[in-house]
Amino acid sequence: MKLVHTLDELREITDAWHNAGEVIGVTPTMGALHEGHLSLVRAAKAGSDRVITTIFVNPTQFNNADDLDKYPRTLDSDMAQLAPFGVDVIYAPGVDQMYPDGFSTTISISGVSEGLCGAKRPGHFDGVATIVAKLFLQTSADRAFFGEKDFQQLQVVKRLAADLNIPVEITGCPTVREADGLALSSRNVRLTENGRKIAPALYAAMQAAGVAIKQGTPVHEALSEAERDILAAGFAEVEYLELRAENGLAPLGTHSEPARLLAAAWLDGVRLIDNIAV
Ligand code: PAJ
Repeated sequence: MKLVHTLDELREITDAWHNAGEVIGVTPTMGALHEGHLSLVRAAKAGSDRVITTIFVNPTQFNNADDLDKYPRTLDSDMAQLAPFGVDVIYAPGVDQMYPDGFSTTISISGVSEGLCGAKRPGHFDGVATIVAKLFLQTSADRAFFGEKDFQQLQVVKRLAADLNIPVEITGCPTVREADGLALSSRNVRLTENGRKIAPALYAAMQAAGVAIKQGTPVHEALSEAERDILAAGFAEVEYLELRAENGLAPLGTHSEPARLLAAAWLDGVRLIDNIAV
């Protein structure tokens, strides 16, 4: 496993792999790795000859300076976690490498970026799309693995690759959860002990709403009840809780096609997101 900080060094390695006809898989991350990230690495190992894990806390996708400052940076423990998986390269560029002086390009994707996290985090998906495009081009990966945990991001990345003809195959991997249902997230460590006990209520309420919708309860009723349950459990705010089309994320008033229930909610000053298939 090689730690690489510069694009020149990365290109030398990936050129040799491509010349040898090897398939390259990439798992883009911001570090602070947990089992959710490692599940992507496992999928990448199974589906590629060579695996690159990128670790870069991307400033342009944070619309809150405090959130960026507080984001955990744990390269040593990340490397220790990746070592047993047979990852070939960890690519951890510096901010200057990714955004040198004069950097002026932003990729903005309409449609799937709008609403949900896009509405509440202005510029977030522009930052994601721009950095992911750079990572695709820099790694020249044939395959890329993203978590369904960030379902809207997964749709944005698929749109990006299709629209810009980037020859990378995108695979979405299922959300990894704690035993009590809480979706793994680097932000969970910021919950208080009490908050950690409350947090699984989000997934529980979403699941109950999903069952109710499938059984014919009107969507708005099921969502109102779930929101009440989430707040009653101790969450401070439900930022959004919406039923959207699985494909393309159009808002759905009725359960008329394969759908996703997506939510963001605040607890202990931490913003948790989750989604389930309905
Ligand atoms: P990050 O939050 O570090 O997540 C990296 C990848 O891990 C994403 O594809 C995310 O969906 C996936 N992931 C996180 N938690 C997961 C879980 N519980 N189960 C399954 N997969 C999970 O997402 C980003 O970084 C950034 O936006 C990035 C794409 C790297 C661009 O900067």
